[in-house]
Amino acid sequence: MENQGKIKKLIDKRTQARLGGGQKRIDSQHAKGKFTARERINMLLDEGSFEELDMFVTHRCVNFGMEKETYLGDGVVTGFGTIDGRVVYVFAQDFTVIGGSLSETMSQKICKVMDMAMRMGAPVIGINDSGGARIQEGADALAGYSEIFERNILASGVVPQISLILGPCAGGAVYSPALTDFIMMSEQNAYMYITGPKVVKSVTNEDVTDAQLGGANMHSRKSGVVHFKGETEEEVLQLTRTLISYIPQNNMEEPPVVECNDPINRLDDTLNTLVPDNPNKPYDMKDVIKGIVDNGEFLEVQPLYAQNIICCFARFNGKSTGIIANQPKFLAGVLDCDASRKAARFVRFCDAFNIPVLTLVDVPGFLPGTGQEYSGIIVHGAKLMFAYGEATVPKVTVTIRKSYGGAHIVMSCKQLRGDLNYAWPNSEIAVMGASGAVAVLEGKNIAKIENADEKAEYILEKETEYKDKFSNPYAAAARGYIDDVIEPRNTRFRVIRAFEMLSTKRLNNPLKKHDNIPL
Ligand code: HXC
Repeated sequence: MENQGKIKKLIDKRTQARLGGGQKRIDSQHAKGKFTARERINMLLDEGSFEELDMFVTHRCVNFGMEKETYLGDGVVTGFGTIDGRVVYVFAQDFTVIGGSLSETMSQKICKVMDMAMRMGAPVIGINDSGGARIQEGADALAGYSEIFERNILASGVVPQISLILGPCAGGAVYSPALTDFIMMSEQNAYMYITGPKVVKSVTNEDVTDAQLGGANMHSRKSGVVHFKGETEEEVLQLTRTLISYIPQNNMEEPPVVECNDPINRLDDTLNTLVPDNPNKPYDMKDVIKGIVDNGEFLEVQPLYAQNIICCFARFNGKSTGIIANQPKFLAGVLDCDASRKAARFVRFCDAFNIPVLTLVDVPGFLPGTGQEYSGIIVHGAKLMFAYGEATVPKVTVTIRKSYGGAHIVMSCKQLRGDLNYAWPNSEIAVMGASGAVAVLEGKNIAKIENADEKAEYILEKETEYKDKFSNPYAAAARGYIDDVIEPRNTRFRVIRAFEMLSTKRLNNPLKKHDNIPL
């Protein structure tokens, strides 16, 4: 009888904990179109897999009458569960409890699952929906944030860390997501910024809304802070599951392999005619990607930011691969500051987590101009070069069309330890395009010709001479800088064979404390 009483007490306490800040606040969360922390976790994880920890933890603050306002579990739900049967650790801030504001004990709960994730080697997924540091706790709340940040930093490159923004995330609180590998955000009710519209108004006199200053659309198009956005919370949670399917549990493991039903020797004849003869005519690089990856499926990272470069996860023969590809449809596929930073971070994620890298090249060069130079294109371009050059995962490069100058080097050339560098027959690997080269080499001679027709004829003759020599892959192939020139329709199986061969690759960089990538 006594035992039954104790069990009932446990069940009552659990029921109470599961109500967070109470039914009224749950209703108000729902009225805003938001799910509660537990509902989100249930949608994220495999059904029935969630094991909650620390549901009886309460805060210890006695300032401003806080001792009278305690909730079981405090403002965060933490624990572990599975996604497609693989363990992940989760924490979800509970806005129904004191606005999800971060207390000392809440930080301890979050740090506990982060420490477990590090010990067991599994991803951490954090769901953010919070009014920031719990004001009543003062420096304790700040110390709590700092404990989390330090763990984010130490976990970087050891276990994947994913942040979901499904509500407010403001002030210093933004730095935990910013330190993680990927930020996902919902278009509704979510915003992240350093200072909100009121402070902005008082300091700069700008009038902005939450959405303009820190909404998902802004962050996925302008700032590039957000890697994936979804219209709804459900979409964001589903995207998280998809992302997890491409990445390994930790830096010592390989990504999961899925069964491949797409024939590995499938030829795609449309690739032979996809690239226009005119080098200045665009085409959609995504057609190349769809044509070669398993089932034409890929998951794009930052799809709306720096669209002149594509970064995506896909599979070849069921094995996860990171693809970086110039996109001739946007800005002719040129490399600029944003594209360089976007791709550099993606290459480093892949390298940190044993995901092989395929690079598809069609790049006319770096974007010229004061805008780019003033923004530091020199260091941003160097980031991408650094990322490729230090990467030790298998690296296969296929030059689709143009590969000019410094951009040729940066885009995973042979000398940056590209393992296999292939080129399509119509590719051009040179210091620059024909017209630019002739203008430099023949400028004085051209200026001397007065007759316009003669001038045009002379230029054409010199350009043809240059094209015959360099506007093809064979000059580079003659030196072994290109390992083979391949027929476009064969690309899928050539890439698959390349990665199969490279699967035993072992390469280590010189021992050092850490590198000094140009930030
Ligand atoms: C304590 C907080 C809180 C906070 C919200 N609440 N934020 N309590 N500390 N930081 C409480 C509210 O008092 C309220 O309590 C409940 O949570 C729900 O909040 P509402 O304001 O009713 O919700 P809503 O209208 O949706 O507005 C959400 C909000 C707003 C925009 C986030 O609450 C807000 O502006 N909060 C303060 C944000 C802030 O300035 N935080 C500090 C940022 S600096 P009741 O009892 O009425 O339901 C920071 C530094 C971090 O975080 C540094 C890290 C290094």
